[in-house]
Amino acid sequence: MKTRICDLLKIEYPIVQGGMAWVAEHHLAAAVSEAGGLGIIAAGNAPADVVRDEIRKAKALTNKPFGVNIMLLSPHAAEVAEVVVEEKVSVVTTGAGNPESYIPMWKEAGIVVIPVVASVALAKRMEKYGADAVVAEGCEAGGHIGELTTMALIPQIVDAVEIPVIAAGGIGDGRGLAAVFMLGAEAGQIGTRFVVSHESIVHDNYKKRIISSKDIDSAVTGRSTGHPVRSIRNNMTRNYQKLEQEGKSFEELELLTLGSLKKAVVDGDIINGSVMAGQIAGLISKEQSCKDIIKEVVSEAEELIKNFHF
Ligand SMILES: Cc1cc2nc3c(=O)[nH]c(=O)nc-3n(C[C@H](O)[C@H](O)[C@H](O)COP(=O)(O)O)c2cc1C
Repeated sequence: MKTRICDLLKIEYPIVQGGMAWVAEHHLAAAVSEAGGLGIIAAGNAPADVVRDEIRKAKALTNKPFGVNIMLLSPHAAEVAEVVVEEKVSVVTTGAGNPESYIPMWKEAGIVVIPVVASVALAKRMEKYGADAVVAEGCEAGGHIGELTTMALIPQIVDAVEIPVIAAGGIGDGRGLAAVFMLGAEAGQIGTRFVVSHESIVHDNYKKRIISSKDIDSAVTGRSTGHPVRSIRNNMTRNYQKLEQEGKSFEELELLTLGSLKKAVVDGDIINGSVMAGQIAGLISKEQSCKDIIKEVVSEAEELIKNFHF
């Protein structure tokens, strides 16, 4: 199962672990890279020094390539953009915006640049500005999302750009990975399933909540502000949606979510915190090591593709 993404990222299997604020720190990233995928440290809103420390800790755990996901809305984005150059990180993915202004600096440093996009227009623009690949993320995904589903988005982006496309949003097993190959993607980015891995440092309550989820248990908040986020329905999402219906401003709504992901990930408050997870949570039934997750997803996809018949 070798694609252009395996060559570009120098990885064994076409599986990327999604950057996930608070969740994707050095343990998770190193475990995924050690298992043959691409692990990613999420910078989230962390200051540059914290990210530098995470990168060094990951390097102590693995010699394999790993990436850093830079959240462009972070107040520290500009400094983190320089830290990845100084620390000679192999790959950068970017979320929540347009990384155009940083691309020349990263390319000059030999970093593989992979913006996360949710539309054909942004994918084409990123290709024009020198991106090496894109992650095309459908709205089934956990966290910040766009409008289109993975099923509709991937083939349209694949047709619009020459660079390889990594599909994200709703990949929970080998069937999902095989499906995105059929749509023209050359790798799958997995988020929610890796949240429920042994190496993921999220609170046990968070993992258990994903494992107990049904298909319809996620909700999207923030559509009214243009910043939609998918998480498991709870007090926080219900309050947020109520305030949205009352027409509250972005600033008032933001107050409700300030620190809410940390509350769920670190403190285990799955009632009032933000339990970000994708629609595929309903399929996830157990906690496993990153190695077993990757092995299982890859072998299932290979079998399906090899033996497919009507
Ligand atoms: C808890 C959580 C936090 C996330 N945080 C980020 C982030 O900081 N930056 C980013 O680009 N994507 C973020 N994402 C999206 C993931 O990187 C990935 O694209 C997504 O989870 C894939 O869909 P799936 O959840 O259906 O596997 C987050 C997802 C989750 C579940």
